[in-house]
Amino acid sequence: MATSSPHLSEDLFSDASQHWDLDRLCADLATIKQRPLTVTERACLRGLLCSINPNDIAAALHRQPQGLRVDLTRGLYRYVEGVSCGAKPKNWREVPILLSQNGYRKQTRPVALPLPSDRPIPQSPISMHHDWGNAPDVSIFFGRSHELKQLQQWIVKDQCQIVAIWGMQGMGKTRLSVKLAMGNIGKTELSLQVAQGVQEQFEFVIWRSLYNAPSLKDLLIGWLKGLSGQQEFTAPKDIKTAIHQLISYLKSHRCLLILDNVERILQPESATGQYLAGYEEYGQLFQQIGTIPHQSCLLLTSRETLHEVVQLENKTSVRSLALQGLDIEAGKQIFAEIGNFSATESEWQQIVELYNGNPLALELIAKHIEYVFDGNITDFLQEGTPLFLDRMLLF
Ligand SMILES: Nc1ncnc2c1ncn2[C@@H]1O[C@H](COP(=O)(O)OP(=O)(O)OP(=O)(O)O)[C@@H](O)[C@H]1O
Ligand SMILES: [Mg+2]
Repeated sequence: MATSSPHLSEDLFSDASQHWDLDRLCADLATIKQRPLTVTERACLRGLLCSINPNDIAAALHRQPQGLRVDLTRGLYRYVEGVSCGAKPKNWREVPILLSQNGYRKQTRPVALPLPSDRPIPQSPISMHHDWGNAPDVSIFFGRSHELKQLQQWIVKDQCQIVAIWGMQGMGKTRLSVKLAMGNIGKTELSLQVAQGVQEQFEFVIWRSLYNAPSLKDLLIGWLKGLSGQQEFTAPKDIKTAIHQLISYLKSHRCLLILDNVERILQPESATGQYLAGYEEYGQLFQQIGTIPHQSCLLLTSRETLHEVVQLENKTSVRSLALQGLDIEAGKQIFAEIGNFSATESEWQQIVELYNGNPLALELIAKHIEYVFDGNITDFLQEGTPLFLDRMLLF
């Protein structure tokens, strides 16, 4: 890791000290390293503990992102592995998870959660309640400041119980929901609260995808296990009891449940949002989360709209956002991530609009233009046979 720069102070990412036993952690990491951590390493560590991605840490330290990532891999990640019984962080997001599992997070959990039956629950050995499962990396993320503000308003200020993001394939629903919840907006002009991510407002955050169409029973058991922190978990006897227990948690604790790919339990292209056979009970879950008063939020993404959400919208604390494409500037940034492209301003506008600002389509077409037209957007547009969106997105 590079030597510390003179302007660096211990104030950078100082929030980490509120939740982490930094002195003990730095001492243990120094033992693994066999030398004290540098000021830069300590700043990176604090940043990672605040769930700030390496690109934003690099910006704050005036470092090149690539160089900082290499330093992290060669240095801090190895020391973290050393204090985590050999468990290696696969990416930056795993650093706080591993350190939490190894007891470096301060014990802030107030009390054990009462089950609806008032049965006492043993304390979880993991005091961090944010479970991001297989959520994708969102360190590369452009635009969407209006959408982030709107969603933040619904979730944090209005305390909506269900917030849905609808949109066609590749429109960026998943990335937007993760970015919203995780934060680290970096250089945009959003409020500090958005920059921290709405996760800071919640005691529990659990991210799950319905991509493999799990049964409602399996989903509920997973949620209840996560919310109860129980090592030995007794599954509720039926779906009704499980939903009842879940709602009890949503009432007694502020939880953010994120459910991705909800369209996977719906009949394909069903205009009325009908469930696949065997998945109809999901409707009861959404209906109850939307109507029974509680202090939590279910944030969901789907290609198709959900009947229950549409019906409850605006009458209750249920809201939805129909996600549109990226603006021209964000579209240009997607191209810039892929290579060097040349185009006039009006051609940039033309190409982003041609693909409705769909980020996945823009990524695919940028790769095509780079490969076939050597990055010349003018030539691609003049060719007169643009690839059509529906043919590109065939999965
Ligand atoms: N704001 C963004 N900035 C940069 N890239 C983005 C952004 N949003 C989405 N992308 C890119 O577009 C692709 C599709 O995004 P995402 O998976 O979030 O779409 P989706 O709407 O959830 O699609 P699906 O309906 O298939 O689940 C991803 O590869 C991601 O890299
Ligand atoms: Mg998605």
